[in-house]
Order: sequence, then C-alpha cells, then structure tokens
Amino acid sequence: MDLQLSGRVAVVTGASKGIGLAVTRALLDEGVRVVAASRKSTPELAGLKGDLIHVHADLMDAEAPGQIVERAVSEFGGLDILVNNAGGPPPGVALPRFSFLTPTDEDWRVMFEFNLFSVVRTVRAAITPMLARGGGSIVNVSSGSARLPAPMNVDYNAAKAGLNNLTKALSEEFAPQGIRVNTISPGPVRTAWWTESGGAADIIAAQTGTDRDSVIDQLAPEMMKLSTGRLVEPQEIADVVALLASPRSASTTGADFAVDGGFLKQI
Ligand SMILES: NC(=O)c1ccc[n+]([C@@H]2O[C@H](COP(=O)([O-])OP(=O)(O)OC[C@H]3O[C@@H](n4cnc5c(N)ncnc54)[C@H](OP(=O)(O)O)[C@@H]3O)[C@@H](O)[C@H]2O)c1
Repeated sequence: MDLQLSGRVAVVTGASKGIGLAVTRALLDEGVRVVAASRKSTPELAGLKGDLIHVHADLMDAEAPGQIVERAVSEFGGLDILVNNAGGPPPGVALPRFSFLTPTDEDWRVMFEFNLFSVVRTVRAAITPMLARGGGSIVNVSSGSARLPAPMNVDYNAAKAGLNNLTKALSEEFAPQGIRVNTISPGPVRTAWWTESGGAADIIAAQTGTDRDSVIDQLAPEMMKLSTGRLVEPQEIADVVALLASPRSASTTGADFAVDGGFLKQI
C-alpha cells in the first residue's frame, strides 16, 4: 500500500529511542521529512537515513514546543504530521509506583506537565502551520492504562486519560478544517522504560524477588494478562502511527487504537 507520505513534513517528540525512534525510522522510510525532538540525540537516531533534523528540546520547558514546530516550518516549509510521543516517567522519575499514597502534589504536577501539558502546547503550536497546508494528522501516543484505572501509576494513568479526552475534543473541533487527531494506546512496550537499569523491570523484580529478564519475558506479560504472552515491540506501534499519519486514513479521526497484545479486555 502506498501511504502517500513522501515529501510530507513531520514532528516526532521523544524521538531518540524507544517508540519515538521507531516512528522516526518508519516515517523516514516512507519519504517523510522529520524533525525529531528530544533532550539528547543517540547514535541510533543519528544513524537514520533520510531528511532528518534533530532538535534538542526539553518538553518540561513551556517554550520548547513552539521552538520545535518553528524548526519544521523554517527548515522544511510547513507541517503535516505531529506525533506527540514523548511521555511516560517524567525526567528523574522511575515508574511504577504502587499506591495512590506515594506521589506528592509535585509528582502529580510534573506527571501532567510531561504527559499532558507538553502535548497541549505542541498541538497549539502545530495547528496554525497545519491549517496553512489545508490540514494534517496528529497522533498522540497514550497508554492502555488511560482506560484501565488502577492503583499502580495512578497519576500517569490520569494524565493519559486526559490525553484521550483532549484528542477527542481536538478531533471534533478541527476535522472540518482537515486536521485529524487520534490516539494509539500501547500496552507494555519493550523500551528503555522497561529494560534500562533502574527501569520498570528492575523495580518489579525487586518487589517480587526475581530478575529483570524474568520480569520482561514472563512476569510482566502474565501480570498484565497479555493474550500474546509478550511485550509489544516499538515497530508495532510505529507501523500504526504511519498508517494514521497517512491520507489513506482520511476518515479516521477521534479514534483510539489499542496496540497492546490484548491488554485491554473490554469491548
Ligand atoms: N514503553 C511502554 O511500555 C509504554 C506503554 C504505554 C505507553 N507508552 C508511551 O509511549 C511513549 C514513548 O515511550 P517509550 O517507552 O518509547 O519511552 P523511552 O524509550 O523512555 O523514550 C523516551 C523518549 O522521550 C525523550 N524524552 C524524555 N524526557 C524528555 C523531555 N523532558 N523532553 C523531550 N524529550 C524527552 C527521550 O529522550 P531524552 O531522554 O534524550 O530527552 C526519549 O527519546 C510515551 O508517551 C509513553 O507514555 C509506553
């Protein structure tokens, strides 16, 4: 299928590793010109082939979203696709946390700053250049947890639930002007969030008296009742992002796509 993406311009946040890196690679493979934003670059990002610019940006800074979008306009002449991927544990935070009683007011504030308010600001910056092109596609990377309230990561889940609500509202307002807005809700994905030292697998391993690899390969899929029996791979998210970014999805807006190995059980 020709996704008709060649020559379009995208901004991808959190692009240096994990899901954002896979999204950046998938879009470049389709001939998209990509502005990739993160605090630091990585050899994996720098090694990608195609029309790629890396912007050093800290999304905890309220000025950063405008600067990222401005680079897309100044370097590539406009903006067609925005992938709000950055999210998860805010800088300096390790998840999971296991109880509502753990996060403080400040923890809640930074969680919403990173997972919701940075998206609000990036969308606000992107709307005008997208309208100037006659429309575009915004893909917000949410989480299956947005629709499955639980004591674990209660602040993160609430921020992502807000993101789903925002997405639907944006889709209502801007569909008549050609901007589509959708969420993808991953289940647990094999990224640094899980695999790095001190990451989610290590925290769960310490709680349960096992080791990192056992958590990733067996315990987490069991705990989260994944029908597929394994974590999701970043590429599996990226492929759906590319489809949603494409004009082939012209009637898809305000939708939420679970790419979660069967994590969500409800219909
Ligand atoms: N992994 C999962 O299991 C999972 C499950 C459900 C949903 N998700 C969602 O998927 C998205 C991506 O998660 P991931 O697991 O791929 O994350 P990841 O591997 O930890 O990568 C995070 C990316 O965000 C960037 N980043 C972190 N802090 C930033 C900041 N302050 N400003 C700008 N960029 C920043 C990182 O680069 P720098 O550190 O260089 O800034 C990196 O590129 C998130 O929205 C997350 O909530 C993930």
